Amino acid sequence: MKLTVIGCGYLGATHAACMAELGHDVLGIDVDADKVALLQSGEVPFFEPGLADVLRRNISADRLRFTTDYREVASFAAVHFLGVGTPQQTRSYAADVSHVESAVDALTPLLRGNHLIIGKSTVPVGTAAALAQRISVLAAPGSTVELAWNPEFLREGFAVEDTLEPDRLVLGTNPADKSGSAEQVVAEVYREILDTGVPFIRTDWATAELVKVSANAFLATKISFINAMSEICEVVDADVSTLADAIGYDQRIGRRFLNAGLGFGGGCLPKDIRGFMARAAEVGASDAVGFLREVDSINMRRRTAMVDLMSDACGGDVLGVNIAVLGAAFKPESDDVRDSPALNVAGQLALRGASVTVFDPKAAVNSRRMFPMLAYAQNVTEACTDADAVMVATEWAEFVHMTPDELADVVRDRVIVDGRRCLDATTWRSAGWRYHALGGPVRSGGQRASLVPRMSVSALGES
Ligand code: UDX
Repeated sequence: MKLTVIGCGYLGATHAACMAELGHDVLGIDVDADKVALLQSGEVPFFEPGLADVLRRNISADRLRFTTDYREVASFAAVHFLGVGTPQQTRSYAADVSHVESAVDALTPLLRGNHLIIGKSTVPVGTAAALAQRISVLAAPGSTVELAWNPEFLREGFAVEDTLEPDRLVLGTNPADKSGSAEQVVAEVYREILDTGVPFIRTDWATAELVKVSANAFLATKISFINAMSEICEVVDADVSTLADAIGYDQRIGRRFLNAGLGFGGGCLPKDIRGFMARAAEVGASDAVGFLREVDSINMRRRTAMVDLMSDACGGDVLGVNIAVLGAAFKPESDDVRDSPALNVAGQLALRGASVTVFDPKAAVNSRRMFPMLAYAQNVTEACTDADAVMVATEWAEFVHMTPDELADVVRDRVIVDGRRCLDATTWRSAGWRYHALGGPVRSGGQRASLVPRMSVSALGES
């Protein structure tokens, strides 16, 4: 099939390359000419494992190209995916859907004949219905432009895998249109994936829009739940990792997304829960998602707790202290620093007077752009040279697997603070380091924390 993909960021570039990988002829469009030139030359403008291979393979096979020209898009295909960004508005929690609207405004008047626009961006519920109105006004006389919503659930770092092997496909169509034509087209696009037995959930626009934001709200809630337990564990000297393992064995709960630590960041979860709260208020249902404010608050508190933990580890104050921060990306296998807990903590430590040196294997360029006042090192050793304390803020494999001996001779003091509970405490302690972690004692390798509770159990309420 011939397809176009509008917007070539994380979502759009991955989708375009993966649709070509499925054998379709794909034209991607972005308003950023530099990004288009990079993609066209086979370069991915961000770090995403495996994507460059898929991109290059399909450009060479003549199944994939990129442009900045909407006229080309309009004449190239009759099926257009919409994958532009919907960031948080500057002065409100609401999502900014102006890029989605601009794309529709630019494309629709140019379309001739029958076309289908398939939205993939994460949007507030009701957006598709509003866009359909817009499309009906803008469409050229005699042309039919349908709209469907097919939310994307890809995780950064696993974008190719999640696109080609999704755990479900969701399609929302116009509830007033019973023809099923959009559904047939989308089923054809994803034929190869659907043939593997992937669940295909067909619904209306509003439900499809809500599936995406509620999935992200659930994931954010799960992380904040374990981080709330982490706060309790810290007070009573319990171990939140063991707690997560124990409750995670209950299949109704599940162990995934129960890793306590610095909490969630990135371009999706934080802005999506805020956008959801804003939209719920607009439709008069703010009470229904009032808990998301608490989810957000628990999450943001982890960052302050990390700064406080570092202060404690440094004897009560970080003023004038050299701190090495390992990790700046919001999670490993990504160079994305949008709302990154790691970088946020590094910035807060600097504001408290610490001398902060950051190292991240992939996110240095983006970090420097966002926090130019921090120092950036080329590797772990350089970051840790003369450090009074080392902090692991993103669980990149190279930090998880580093040994205390590698750093022992370069640091000024052997203090390590584990913001992701990803290091083996016993190994570090037995090598003479003072090891601290968010979320209470770490008992790996037989390490026993004090069993004397700082707060009596009855103070927490027995039941
Ligand atoms: C998320 C959703 O997972 C994805 O389905 C959606 O399409 C986009 O948003 P992503 O932003 O790539 O994907 O990251 P994700 O892997 O979900 O992690 C989000 C954040 O939560 C990261 O900062 C991560 O470090 C944190 N996290 C994750 C935890 O703190 N604990 C966990 O147990 C899991």
